[in-house]
Amino acid sequence: MAKRVAVIGAGVSGLSSIKCCLDEDLEPTCFERSNDIGGLWKFTETSEDGMTRVYRSLVTNVCKEMSCYSDFPFPEDYPNFMNQTKFWDYLQDFAEHFDLLKYIQFKTTVSSVTKHPDFSVSGQWDVVTEKEGKQNRAVFDAVMVCTGHFLNPHLPLESFPGIDKFKGQILHSQEYKIPEGFQGKRILVIGLGNTGGDVAVELSRTAAQVFLSTRTGTWVIGRSSNGGYPYNMMVTRRCYSFTEQMLPSCVRNWIQERHMNKIFNHENYGLSIKKGYLRKKSKLIVNDELPTCILCGMVTMKTSVKEFTETSALFEDGTIEKNIDVVIFTTGYTFSFPFLEEPLKSLCSKKIFLYKQVFPSNLEKATLAIIGLISLKGSILSGTELQARWATRVFKGLCKLPPSQKLMADAITKEQLIKRGRITDTSKDKLDYILYMDDLAACIGTKPNVPLLFLKDPRLAWAVFFGPCTPYQYRLMGPGTWDGARNAILTQWDRTLKPLKTRVVLDSSKPASMSHYVKTWTAPVLLVSLLLLWKSSFCFKLFWKKLQDRISP
Ligand SMILES: Cc1cc2nc3c(=O)[nH]c(=O)nc-3n(C[C@H](O)[C@H](O)[C@H](O)COP(=O)(O)OP(=O)(O)OC[C@H]3O[C@@H](n4cnc5c(N)ncnc54)[C@H](O)[C@@H]3O)c2cc1C
Ligand SMILES: *[C@@H]1O[C@H](CO)[C@@H](O)[C@H](O)[C@H]1NC(C)=O
Repeated sequence: MAKRVAVIGAGVSGLSSIKCCLDEDLEPTCFERSNDIGGLWKFTETSEDGMTRVYRSLVTNVCKEMSCYSDFPFPEDYPNFMNQTKFWDYLQDFAEHFDLLKYIQFKTTVSSVTKHPDFSVSGQWDVVTEKEGKQNRAVFDAVMVCTGHFLNPHLPLESFPGIDKFKGQILHSQEYKIPEGFQGKRILVIGLGNTGGDVAVELSRTAAQVFLSTRTGTWVIGRSSNGGYPYNMMVTRRCYSFTEQMLPSCVRNWIQERHMNKIFNHENYGLSIKKGYLRKKSKLIVNDELPTCILCGMVTMKTSVKEFTETSALFEDGTIEKNIDVVIFTTGYTFSFPFLEEPLKSLCSKKIFLYKQVFPSNLEKATLAIIGLISLKGSILSGTELQARWATRVFKGLCKLPPSQKLMADAITKEQLIKRGRITDTSKDKLDYILYMDDLAACIGTKPNVPLLFLKDPRLAWAVFFGPCTPYQYRLMGPGTWDGARNAILTQWDRTLKPLKTRVVLDSSKPASMSHYVKTWTAPVLLVSLLLLWKSSFCFKLFWKKLQDRISP
């Protein structure tokens, strides 16, 4: 009999999970609190309580070729970056194409997930749901938690003395939808993540002045890169990742800093990352307009706020901004799992206790997976899909996890080392995209074997190694292979350029794609050859030294 899996939430992660259950012949039942799929990406004008809400102007920050389901490329005419409606359309197409909708029970909230009495034998869960006031209880063989982490606003008011005296308007970014109503105001935005950047830029067009306060600073990158190609497609490549792994971290950081500061000098713009602030590399936001807004004086960068008075804010550097009308906290979210019982509940909110960010370490049966609780330097969507592919295979017993005693022991040791300051807590950092994806893929057995691919299909291997690491790469070999993957990889640039070709000038003398390929390949090829040369010369020196040592008496 097929195992029954409860999927909680029908956002991006939930859809990934339903699809992967079906691929593994598991029997999914998805419970979604709202009346539609898409979670965060389902735009609504009204703000109902307890729903994930975002601002109207939100545009994806990872391009379509890097942020799609690995066996379902975007239509070629879709823009590379898109608004919520368009992205939601894609999710809807995906759900319809794989016939996922019939597994979803809408307007159904999961209120409790507890271990079944014989959990230690069966690994089963009791799941209680609520629909229109009526409770329902069912037993499932496994649970996939896909509730997102943008539900509970993190509003750290206690760390802002005087905020209770402040007379103006205070809100969290979750309540911010449109710039109307903020015209002519003096606005202070606190927190510089993707949302903080977006909100500051949008408001600056109509506000009297926008101040953007950041404690740590951040690197800012645009959606497009050299030549106007989508940023992720240019930098997220195996050849670079491979090279990076070989370089010492100081050299790596130096190269990265140089690269970032070449676009604009972060220090001059008041964006540079605070000296001595660890985890330097992981602070990164996508914003095309912020540097220009700063350059035009429409957004003023500030340090963190030390204190509020009735109408003004005093900053760490001693400066004061008076007559502030509005304070918007873009301080992110806290995640929680209200339907779980202790100790699982608190354990799941500590990322060190989630094995590969998915499986809670303390479960003797690996039948509960958290999908989508990741920060990645790349697409969350693709990340959730691989997580779900792995988790469903673990449920089926096709992939094995280390025993829970070992996972717990490892996590506790790590936690103690962090407490004693021996190692830095990296669990809140954005994970490296290729390393994380490859790690999961290796567990499933679907990590592309590049050397083998070079022997079998050099053209494809070339695109896989030197080209952008698109999700289709994880459908080339191993379980879950997709016939269309090869073609999807070889045509990824066509789909990228197609929506731009709305004014084709006929008499161009040579095919544009050729020069493009030359441009995009030369840098990586050069880099890798240099590195190999450097490595071999290094080996040679070593060999020479050894030889001399031998010869000399
Ligand atoms: C402002 C903002 C911008 C972003 N931009 C991008 C981007 O450009 N590109 C990108 O890849 N990612 C982006 N992200 C990341 C985003 O998290 C992912 O794209 C993705 O939406 C995560 O999906 P999810 O399914 O995990 O969570 P959600 O989209 O939050 O979905 C969770 C679902 O679970 C349901 N639910 C919750 N609790 C229950 C319960 N107890 N019972 C039943 N149902 C429940 C909710 O109703 C919801 O539908 C952005 C995030 C934010 C906040
Ligand atoms: C997104 O763009 C489409 C047109 O491509 C438009 O119809 C839609 O209203 C936009 N959605 C939002 C939320 O702005």
